[in-house]
Amino acid sequence: MSLRIEYTSAPLGHKIHGVDLANLSDAEFKAIEDAWNTYGVVVVTGQTLTPEQQLAFSRRFGGLEKFVIDAYNLPGNPEIFVVSNIIENGKPIGMADAGRMWHSDMCFMPEPSRGAFLYALEVPMQNGEPLGDTLFASTAAAYDGLPDSVKARITGLRAVNSFSARSAAAAAQAEADPGNIDSATLAHLKAQRDKAKVEVPDVDHPLVRTHPITGRKSLYASELITSEVVGMPLEEGRALLKSLIDHIIQPQYVYRHRWKLGDLVMWDNCSSMHQAIGDYQLPLRRHMHRTTIRGTRPV
Ligand code: SIN
Repeated sequence: MSLRIEYTSAPLGHKIHGVDLANLSDAEFKAIEDAWNTYGVVVVTGQTLTPEQQLAFSRRFGGLEKFVIDAYNLPGNPEIFVVSNIIENGKPIGMADAGRMWHSDMCFMPEPSRGAFLYALEVPMQNGEPLGDTLFASTAAAYDGLPDSVKARITGLRAVNSFSARSAAAAAQAEADPGNIDSATLAHLKAQRDKAKVEVPDVDHPLVRTHPITGRKSLYASELITSEVVGMPLEEGRALLKSLIDHIIQPQYVYRHRWKLGDLVMWDNCSSMHQAIGDYQLPLRRHMHRTTIRGTRPV
């Protein structure tokens, strides 16, 4: 096995070289699975994957989820969600902004996604440097780094995760600055706000969750989506959530991924959160394929 792990200086984001995900031995698969569970985010470099090959690799980790907005799912392979700023025939081929604030995917659902694998087909480049980096923070390392007094304070607390509050904020922001966004995206945000209000009830999850495989504890709160702490006065809860998120995104817990073609970044929503940087625009093109692994109720 020629698999080699190159460690970053962060607790997550380590690079796995020397494998072909379309042609893995059982030992290589096990090494990748163990690294993903242990570190929360790993980057498998140098891949050339068809949608079918990405799907086959992803399915080895569990059932896959289809993204709720069908317009951005790959025709013919709807379990691939397209993340892209490319417009074809006047229509976006994918979602340009799949997460510009810190979040853990689908935390507003009773059973949020376990993780996601994002594969780079086109990376925006300027003066030889990639744009559109993705930041990842280890919520597990951040939990470990809390003072014992804070750990004691948050043990057993639950927090509300509200997609409808998030959708309303996103639509309001887009409406306030419509010059910054295409009309299809603005219409989509408004429709999402109205639908979310009716169809996506708020859900509460533990503020400290336990990883379903490793048993490691991590903080579980997303910027904008985690809206309040159950049983705590609103402002006190919001201040606590802000202080926890500020703690998680300190440099010692964060890895910044600078994309290269053929990278497949695997993130685990149980022990990390992420944020995409929107510092590029057409004609600089970004095109990625994402598969999403189904998760379980956080405990
Ligand atoms: C995502 O949050 O699913 C996408 C992240 C990215 O576009 O880098």
